[in-house]
Amino acid sequence: RKGKTPEEVVKKYLQKVKSPPEEDCTICMEPLGGPSGYKGPGVGPVSKAESVGRLAQCGHQYHFQCLVAMYNNGNKDGSLQCPTCKTIYGVKTGNQPAGKMEYHVIPHSLPGHPDCKTIRIIYNIPPGIQGPEHPNPGKPFTARGFPRHCYLPDSEKGRKVLRLLLVAWDRRLIFSVGTSSTTGESDTVIWNEVHHKTEFGSNLTGHGFPDPGHLDNVLEELRAQGITEEDAVVE
Ligand code: APR
Ligand code: ZN
Repeated sequence: RKGKTPEEVVKKYLQKVKSPPEEDCTICMEPLGGPSGYKGPGVGPVSKAESVGRLAQCGHQYHFQCLVAMYNNGNKDGSLQCPTCKTIYGVKTGNQPAGKMEYHVIPHSLPGHPDCKTIRIIYNIPPGIQGPEHPNPGKPFTARGFPRHCYLPDSEKGRKVLRLLLVAWDRRLIFSVGTSSTTGESDTVIWNEVHHKTEFGSNLTGHGFPDPGHLDNVLEELRAQGITEEDAVVE
C-alpha cells in the first residue's frame, strides 16, 4: 500500500478554520487571511477551504501550504511538530545513521550515586554515506570518537532513563549528522538533543558526575522528543 502523501499527513493533524484570525502565519510571516508566502517547489494547489488549519492539540494556526512545505523539508516520517510550541503529532523520528547501542552494568559507583552500580552504554556508529534524510545526500559523513561510552547510575530512575534511551535509539533520535559545535567539523555524526554523560569518575569536561539534575534533565529532553514513560512499557 502506498504511504500517505505529505498533504494527507498534514491534514490528519489539522482542524478546519472557517475564518482565519488577523494574524501572520509564523512559518512564512504573511497574513493567515491571504495566501501562503511559501514559494518553493513541491506544493500543489489548495482550495480556499483548506488554506489555513489549526493543529488539533495545541491550537496553533498556519497556512496549510506552509505546514506541507515544513513537512517536506523534514524527514517525512508521518509526524509533525508545531514550530511554535513543539507539540509532536504522531511519532517523531530522527536521522541517526545505522549503528549499534549496547549496555551493561559495571560494579562501580558514580560520584553522587554511592549506593548503586553503574550502567555503561556503548554507542558505535561507523562513518558512511549520507542518505536523503541528511544535510548533504550522497556525501560521506565522518564518525569521531566512537565507540562512545556513556554512564548512568543503576538506580530506579537511571534504569528508566535507559529504557527511554533505547526507545530514542530505535527512533533514530540519539545522534544526528551535521556540524559539531565542539570541533566545527561538518558532515559528521553529532549528539542530538539528549544529553549523555561520557566521563566516569570525575567531571573535568562538564559531561561527568556528580550532577544532581542530570536524570531529570534527560527525561525532559526525551519528553521534548516525544518520548515518555508510556513509550517504554511495551518494547
Ligand atoms: N560528552 C557528552 N556530551 C557532549 C560532549 C561530550 N564529550 N561534548 C559535547 N557534548 C554535548 C554538547 O553539550 C551538546 O549539547 O553534545 C551536544 C552536541 O555537541 P557537539 O559538539 O555538536 O557534539 P559532538 O561533536 O557529537 O560531540 C563532541 O563528544 O562524546 C564526545 O567523542 C565525542 O569528542 C566528541 C564530543
Ligand atoms: Zn504561512
